[in-house]
Amino acid sequence: MHSNQFMRECWYVAGRSADFADKLTALTLLGDAVVIYRAPDGTPSALEDACPHRKLPLSKGNLKGGAVECGYHGLTFDGTGTCIAAPTQGDPIPKRAQVRSYPVEDRYGFLWIWMGDAANADTAKIIDIPNFDNPSWGKTALGALDIASNYLFVVDNLLDPSHVAWVHVTSFAGAGTDHRPLDIEVLEDGVIVSRWIFSETGSAILSRHAGIRRQL
Ligand code: FES
Repeated sequence: MHSNQFMRECWYVAGRSADFADKLTALTLLGDAVVIYRAPDGTPSALEDACPHRKLPLSKGNLKGGAVECGYHGLTFDGTGTCIAAPTQGDPIPKRAQVRSYPVEDRYGFLWIWMGDAANADTAKIIDIPNFDNPSWGKTALGALDIASNYLFVVDNLLDPSHVAWVHVTSFAGAGTDHRPLDIEVLEDGVIVSRWIFSETGSAILSRHAGIRRQL
């Protein structure tokens, strides 16, 4: 997919928050080379992974506190992409020595990144996940599933719970998945498909797993 074909004015998940530490992590997001790291106090930063001098990937350089030192000639950039040291230039620091920085935000165990115009980044636009911190709700927050396909196929699959009874026969099919109606809510910027299933016996497979857990 060409990088111009992505929607840029929105928040994306760059990865799980725990995956980013005080080291330089290089990623390609929407076709952009990005380097992500945390300052010693945990503050995350995301910069274009290219030094403005000779375009060496900054991820090949050194993380020094909350700043990145280019591994070629030592230009050093803070988390906003501003050059704060130019060892071979002396003063003043070259004005054009500025790296693009991407707004980032830790939320829901993910690191979110805004790939559009930074001036439009509003953390209130990060998708709301009701009850995420409600201790009476359970959540699955472990692991990741790598899928070798266009991400839109995954979106399509997850918006289609009506396939569960026929595709997932070895896991969570059953328990009304074949006849309970779906609720479809059309939003201004998307659609939510959901289904609540009450008063049904759980699928045989899941019941067996639950039984094993209880025995343990
Ligand atoms: S390429 Fe980065 S300082 Fe020269």
